[in-house]
Amino acid sequence: GKKIAVMTSGGDAPGMNPAIRSVVRTAIYYDMDVIGIKHGYSGMIEGNFEAMYRGSVADIIHRGGTILHSARCPEFETVEGRKQAIENLKREGIEGVVIIGGDGSLQGAEKLAEESDIRVVGIPGTIDNDLGGTDYCLGFDTAMNTVIDGVNKIRDTATSHERTFIIEVMGRHSGDLALMSGLASGAEYILIPEIKFSSKDVCDKIQQGYERGKLHSIIMVAEGVDEDLKPNRKKSESPAFDLSNEIEERTGLETRVIILGHLQRGGSPTAMDRILASRMGFEAVKLLRDGKNKLMVGYRNHEIISTSLSEVLKEKDKINHEIVELAHILSL
Ligand code: F6P
Repeated sequence: GKKIAVMTSGGDAPGMNPAIRSVVRTAIYYDMDVIGIKHGYSGMIEGNFEAMYRGSVADIIHRGGTILHSARCPEFETVEGRKQAIENLKREGIEGVVIIGGDGSLQGAEKLAEESDIRVVGIPGTIDNDLGGTDYCLGFDTAMNTVIDGVNKIRDTATSHERTFIIEVMGRHSGDLALMSGLASGAEYILIPEIKFSSKDVCDKIQQGYERGKLHSIIMVAEGVDEDLKPNRKKSESPAFDLSNEIEERTGLETRVIILGHLQRGGSPTAMDRILASRMGFEAVKLLRDGKNKLMVGYRNHEIISTSLSEVLKEKDKINHEIVELAHILSL
């Protein structure tokens, strides 16, 4: 049979493990050999490969993170780096690779397929949910639930002290996680990079809320608004703190900041992420079996589909503007 490989790359996301499990077990079912590539593209360049069996993926369906480990790998952005990786894959007899990751990882996947005869199929895995060709990326549902759980707890203390809380949510260039979890947790205000906002409007709305007798306010801020508010911000400076200072100055209300950070990347994948991962892994292997190339598996309108990588990478601004309006109306 054919020999394929599976790899996780970029920021990890809950759901990667069930996807690896599905790829490995589907491949074995169809009589293919399957290799795990460790540490993303770095492992591809270093030849860090490991044969995978049914038992290699036992007891991981419920675990966050990725048993194959992950990395961000600037070396793969160079022609030399990719040449080395291709050489290693060829030597190992690998004909196709399933790459689970986000935007940068799939860009790398496309290059790999263009510069060799190795076939690639991508699986969208990122809590940012910012890829085209799919309604959901692996990890998004779990991360949303983690954020909501955090906001529930913050609400308790926010009410007791009648404070305004600014909650910073991950999403480097995308506000989808902040938007959807903001809607689901009843935030007063949701600030995302895709939508222009003025901090004066934020302050006015918060103030009006308190005048009407609200006991607390929750403001969700996507970390990606960074670039709008203050380009080249240092890692230690967060947009949430700037906003907090401004609110205190303008309104005199007591505010607190919480940055949810990397806890949003961990945790046992939800049912939705496990099912999606299992289905996507299955589809990715079938595409490679059928000789398909340069595709990403996706989930649209309750169906598993596939889209060319070039199209996936072109799609921008995935924000659902009806949801933006809805979140606004419900928080008035
Ligand atoms: O892409 C996922 C993500 O968690 C972003 O939301 C965030 O900006 C980035 O990764 C953080 O990257 P790192 O884990 O490398 O610090």
